[in-house]
Amino acid sequence: MSDTNRITLRRPDDWHAHFRDGDMMQAVVPASAQQFARAIVMPNLVPPVTDIEAAVHYRERIMAAVPKGVDFTPLMTAYLTDDTDPGALREGAEKGVFSAVKLYPAGATTNSASGVTDIKNVMPVLETMQEIGLPLLIHGEVTDADIDIFDREAVFIDRILEPLLGQLPSLKVVFEHVTTKEAVDFVAAGDASRLGATITAHHLVINRSDIFKGGIRPHLYCLPIAKREVHRLALRKAATSGDPRYFLGTDTAPHARHLKEAACGCAGIYTAPVAMEVYAHVFEEEGALDKLEAFASLNGPKFYGLEANKDEVALVREPWTVPDSIDAGNGQTLTPFMAGETLDWKLQG
Ligand code: DOR
Ligand code: ZN
Repeated sequence: MSDTNRITLRRPDDWHAHFRDGDMMQAVVPASAQQFARAIVMPNLVPPVTDIEAAVHYRERIMAAVPKGVDFTPLMTAYLTDDTDPGALREGAEKGVFSAVKLYPAGATTNSASGVTDIKNVMPVLETMQEIGLPLLIHGEVTDADIDIFDREAVFIDRILEPLLGQLPSLKVVFEHVTTKEAVDFVAAGDASRLGATITAHHLVINRSDIFKGGIRPHLYCLPIAKREVHRLALRKAATSGDPRYFLGTDTAPHARHLKEAACGCAGIYTAPVAMEVYAHVFEEEGALDKLEAFASLNGPKFYGLEANKDEVALVREPWTVPDSIDAGNGQTLTPFMAGETLDWKLQG
């Protein structure tokens, strides 16, 4: 429901989040738990979360970082490597530990060194996942040095994703954080029961020129990198369409400020503290506030075969200024997305 100053919707979920570990995790989990009821937790720790025991312990550490009285469920993922044992994934899924498996092409992004070097190496694992209905979450970028960084997602579709979906016709796949018109079009032409896509808030707001506006802006650098305006507009159209294939995944990816503002800055944008507010802003600009609930709260659970959350949250029109800096403990700080900017909507709670 929405009037001009208030939007109510089922409590949303984040289908793609990075929580890190230690002090950083303590600093960022409360923001996500305040915004969302559940989050798919990315496994790209160092070392990565590859087995049941590591995932169970990581889940416990995350739960211990959730503020008292806040209802939040982390949904854990396994990090796919060339050596992943299909039996361990089956057991992890049966025990309710693994909600999905994350595929990072080796070298594609932050902490992806242990990722998959060749999709052929994991075909037996993917066959097991297909059989048991365990979703594969894909970071869809090729890593070939000769492919331009702005083309890596589109090339991934042709070289890897399309053949893979053909070879494993009922494997459930989420094309994560899509950034191109090609990706949106590819997903739109797919079977909604087995192919979905997450869309971040930041990719709905920035294009590649924004990364260089008046100087280099490390806090707008992430992977996949933001693309041309035509792609941002295609993402906006998809996200606000109400189409069940597209759902919310922030890819909130905190890195301490000094690691972003560096000669070789880390990829990742910290969006959790502003996520629902930014999505609401975009949906309002697109005249689609009535589609926000489907994108944020209904389409994701449906794809994962889960119930939507029962309780509701409200966003109110109450302008606020995003802080420039957030304490991340241990003498470190975080610069959130939209730092210093004023947002129209505020999530109540
Ligand atoms: O920008 C990104 N940051 N993209 C990813 O795929 C990983 C993430 C991170 O872990 O920092
Ligand atoms: Zn991510």
